[in-house]
Amino acid sequence: MDKDVRLRTRPADPAKLKTLKKALIAFHNLETMAANIYRFQITKEPSEMNRQLIVAMCNEITHLQDFQVKLYEYGFRPGILCPAYRFLGFAFGFVSRILGPKAVLKTGIWVETKAVKHYAELLETVDWDEQTRRMIEKDQADEDGHISRWRNMLGQIR
Ligand SMILES: [Fe+2]
Ligand SMILES: [Fe+2]
Repeated sequence: MDKDVRLRTRPADPAKLKTLKKALIAFHNLETMAANIYRFQITKEPSEMNRQLIVAMCNEITHLQDFQVKLYEYGFRPGILCPAYRFLGFAFGFVSRILGPKAVLKTGIWVETKAVKHYAELLETVDWDEQTRRMIEKDQADEDGHISRWRNMLGQIR
């Protein structure tokens, strides 16, 4: 862990610096929202679905950790809208939980599909260092995994 954290040199070009900051804040906001969606979708019932939601929440928390660390390594801070994304995550999670398992799974699929697209965009627009790019690609693959898991489970309910 200790050696995984590095102080990173910011790009000298102001335009690149701005793009980098915006991208990291966007990732951080998205992962904050995702972690909270799953957190508030979990019910008390000892079901396989809840177990999978806990797995997904845990996974999103690692993504959140990845980007929070990255932000501070570059000398940035989480975005000012972060609490709003936390609230959005709560709202999507809570409302879908009330609506039932299908809504829970559909919300997951919807949000993760948006995330994967956003990841693809940001992977293209920013000139990432090798280590960060690998991290982002790994997180993006995790989101793809979430989509297939929720699709599978939705298929079993229908
Ligand atoms: Fe994520
Ligand atoms: Fe995800």
